[in-house]
Amino acid sequence: MGCVKLVLFFMLYPFLCQLAFSSSLPHLCPEDQALALLQFKHMFTINPNASDYCIPLNPSTLSWNKSKDCCSWDGVHCEKTTGQVIELDLYCSGLQGKFHSNSSLFQLSNLRWIDLSYNDFSGSLISTKFGELSSLTHLDLSLSSFTGLIPAEISHLSKLQVLSISSDDPYGLRLGSYSYELLLKNLTQLRELDLDFVNISSTNPLNFSSYLTTLRLSHTQLRGVFPERVFHLSNLQYLYLSSNSLTGPIPSNVSGLQNLQYLDLSSNYLNGTIPSSIFSLPSLKYFDLSNNSFSGKIHQFKSKTLFYVILKKNQLQGPIPKSLLDQQDLQILILSQNNFSGQIASAICNLKALMLLDLGRNHLNGTIPHCLGEMSMVSILDLSNNYLSGTINTTFNAENLLLIINLYGNKLKGKVPASLINCRYLEFLDLGNNELNDTFPSWLGGLPGLKILSLRSNKFHGPISDSRTNNSFAQIRVIDLTSNRFSGNLPVSLFENFQAMKIIGEKSRTREYVADYYPGNYANTLIVTTKGLDLELPRVLNTEVIINLSRNRFEGYLPSIIGDLVGLRTLNLSHNGLEGIIPASLHQLSVLESLDLSSNKIGGEIPQQLASLTFLAVLNLSHNHLVGCIPRGKQFDTFENSSYQGNDGLCGFPLSKDCGGDYGVPLDDEEEEGDLICWQAILMGFGCGLVIGLSIIYIMLSTHYPVWFSRMVVKFEHKIDTRMKRY
Ligand SMILES: *[C@@H]1O[C@H](CO)[C@@H](O)[C@H](O)[C@H]1NC(C)=O
Ligand SMILES: *[C@@H]1O[C@H](CO)[C@@H](O)[C@H](O)[C@H]1NC(C)=O
Ligand SMILES: *[C@@H]1O[C@H](CO)[C@@H](O)[C@H](O)[C@H]1NC(C)=O
Ligand SMILES: *[C@@H]1O[C@H](CO)[C@@H](O)[C@H](O)[C@H]1NC(C)=O
Ligand SMILES: *[C@@H]1O[C@H](CO)[C@@H](O)[C@H](O)[C@H]1NC(C)=O
Ligand SMILES: *[C@@H]1O[C@H](CO)[C@@H](O)[C@H](O)[C@H]1NC(C)=O
Ligand SMILES: *[C@@H]1O[C@H](CO)[C@@H](O)[C@H](O)[C@H]1NC(C)=O
Ligand SMILES: *[C@@H]1O[C@H](CO)[C@@H](O)[C@H](O)[C@H]1NC(C)=O
Ligand SMILES: *[C@@H]1O[C@H](CO)[C@@H](O)[C@H](O)[C@H]1NC(C)=O
Ligand SMILES: *[C@@H]1O[C@H](CO)[C@@H](O)[C@H](O)[C@H]1NC(C)=O
Ligand SMILES: *[C@@H]1O[C@H](CO)[C@@H](O)[C@H](O)[C@H]1NC(C)=O
Ligand SMILES: *[C@@H]1O[C@H](CO)[C@@H](O)[C@H](O)[C@H]1NC(C)=O
Repeated sequence: MGCVKLVLFFMLYPFLCQLAFSSSLPHLCPEDQALALLQFKHMFTINPNASDYCIPLNPSTLSWNKSKDCCSWDGVHCEKTTGQVIELDLYCSGLQGKFHSNSSLFQLSNLRWIDLSYNDFSGSLISTKFGELSSLTHLDLSLSSFTGLIPAEISHLSKLQVLSISSDDPYGLRLGSYSYELLLKNLTQLRELDLDFVNISSTNPLNFSSYLTTLRLSHTQLRGVFPERVFHLSNLQYLYLSSNSLTGPIPSNVSGLQNLQYLDLSSNYLNGTIPSSIFSLPSLKYFDLSNNSFSGKIHQFKSKTLFYVILKKNQLQGPIPKSLLDQQDLQILILSQNNFSGQIASAICNLKALMLLDLGRNHLNGTIPHCLGEMSMVSILDLSNNYLSGTINTTFNAENLLLIINLYGNKLKGKVPASLINCRYLEFLDLGNNELNDTFPSWLGGLPGLKILSLRSNKFHGPISDSRTNNSFAQIRVIDLTSNRFSGNLPVSLFENFQAMKIIGEKSRTREYVADYYPGNYANTLIVTTKGLDLELPRVLNTEVIINLSRNRFEGYLPSIIGDLVGLRTLNLSHNGLEGIIPASLHQLSVLESLDLSSNKIGGEIPQQLASLTFLAVLNLSHNHLVGCIPRGKQFDTFENSSYQGNDGLCGFPLSKDCGGDYGVPLDDEEEEGDLICWQAILMGFGCGLVIGLSIIYIMLSTHYPVWFSRMVVKFEHKIDTRMKRY
């Protein structure tokens, strides 16, 4: 949200400056109007949190003071000769409270200009009395928590040039189909119409004023055939019709839109080819046709003014047109989820202003252009799910700004390029599902901001060497190495460094995504195995905390240090050659949702303490050498047989094998004391990693030794654990 605010601040800066301006006019303000304004002021409290969007807040009404002329109050402007209040500019004023229809505002009958946007009128209805302010040329009630039906009386305001009543709540505001028609018919002077998120649910937009420069009707439930008339509005600069149910093609001749700068028709059901006349519009900067059903090839771009081209999620085909790569000002290029084919021309590196390049999910082949790593402005690079082959043969510039690199799902061979270490801002690296053949690139730990690393489904091999360097991988939250050929012990020293996993992040409330502050709705998807399924996360939540080392050749023991990674939500170590026992320290993973240790050689009992993991939704311990009684209570009462199958020594619910009557009776203290001495050497050995101790325990665990023994082991592991913590 912080970044959204910042972006908004810069976008709105000119307007904020305008707000700060206050006229120093002679004392002319009529007393009754000053009084009406003060009454209006007192209807509301000032809450700096009234709107999420306002930075800085401009609490104009605080300056309203009887002892001064009202024409000098912030946000109030008077007619020069008569002193009548004609403008009220209370954008982002922090006003909070109900806006009643008896509001004294309606006494200011000479008002021409009202801007009450970005306040919080707490679900108030829009009063029909706005329709009586017949001098109004400018009415802005946007994003101020008005709800309900927009009164038809608004269409009486025939002098209106600007009407803005947008919302951000799809269920907030409605405009009757009839009122909409009236509005379009009667407001013949309209220049700007903004009804984003107002439920209009009309089929046929009718007459639009030919003066229109801005038309914003996104998320308005408009449906039916595309309103052709819109494409003959020669003054139009901004056209936003996204997220409706418009159908049909775009008319073939749109050459009339000589002034069009912003065109957003995304998320409709438009089809047919994209008419070539669009690519010649002389002023077009922003072009978003994503999430429709456009097909065919795209034509040569003749206009050289483009900043944004977003054609994601259509059925476009053919090569990426060369003319697109001549757009010197292009900052955002998103062509993902189409059928584009052919190679990525190295001319793409001529796009010096490019910040976001997303060509994912197409049929592109050939190699990655060698010059790609030299594109100094690119911060998101997504070439995932294509047929790219060869090595990742590029050298990443020392000055690059890359934040996200996604090359998932290609046919890339060779090694991880060493120059990746130059990507000092990198947060997301997905090289999964390729044919890379390398050892673990532990040097990636030197990237200070790396949060998500996926090397899944490649031919990585060998042990994961100790990287004792402090701060290595300190920010990592998701590490996915599944389906490779890694071997040796689990990387304890790596786990020790995972500082970000040692914190429990809030899940539901922190709604921060890695790429959230990027325009064009870029969504960096990530395939993760969580809750037993391969899922595609459409946008990667910063609070996702996952370790997946499954389907490798890891061996040795599960280190208890995993219990320190208390932020973990998914832990998958399945399909390896792990042995030893399940460390009781895992009970510290209090937000763990999915635990998969299946298909290893793990023995011992399931630690009873795991019953305290109240978020655990998926547990798979199948195909190990576990013994003893399955813990009872909480989540453990919900798991089924399949969580445990292939462990001959397990008993208790949900298995049919009973644990026997005397199970669970506490051991006699003296007996325990005796055992303590007897087994201490071995168990201390376990704690210190002595090979002899381990192998004895391993033999004991992997054969059918008595249940009491494994309970002892668990107990001792816990004891050693707590003792080691204490000192
Ligand atoms: C505004 O929000 C902040 C942070 O969420 C909170 O601490 C503060 O109490 C809020 N202020 C009001 C007046 O609601
Ligand atoms: C109004 O202005 C006068 C003089 O400038 C000042 O003394 C007084 O405190 C102000 N009142 C309010 C409510 O701000
Ligand atoms: C305006 O109406 C509201 C509710 O309809 C009422 O609570 C309030 O007292 C009224 N204010 C005035 C000044 O009449
Ligand atoms: C249309 O505008 C005219 C003024 O131009 C006004 O008199 C009339 O009431 C308006 N009609 C409707 C239905 O709002
Ligand atoms: C929009 O309005 C129509 C008709 O008034 C209604 O059927 C529909 O549910 C509304 N949609 C939303 C998102 O409120
Ligand atoms: C649209 O406007 C034109 C000219 O202003 C007028 O002739 C026509 O009847 C209007 N159509 C509708 C449906 O209002
Ligand atoms: C397209 O429309 C423009 C005016 O909107 C017109 O001047 C031009 O001749 C038309 N072109 C074609 C090929 O019909
Ligand atoms: C695509 O557009 C349809 C129709 O407007 C909408 O329902 C859907 O949510 C959109 N999908 C995305 C990913 O925006
Ligand atoms: C566009 O969609 C309509 C149905 O909405 C269909 O009848 C028409 O054939 C489609 N046209 C193309 C070119 O796909
Ligand atoms: C790329 O795909 C095209 C067909 O789309 C094929 O003709 C061409 O040989 C392929 N090139 C490479 C390098 O695989
Ligand atoms: C990498 O690309 C450069 C420049 O295109 C080329 O000369 C070199 O042979 C390539 N190396 C590999 C291993 O493909
Ligand atoms: C990986 O590369 C090495 C040589 O660097 C080669 O010996 C080995 O066969 C390759 N492994 C696979 C699975 O391709």
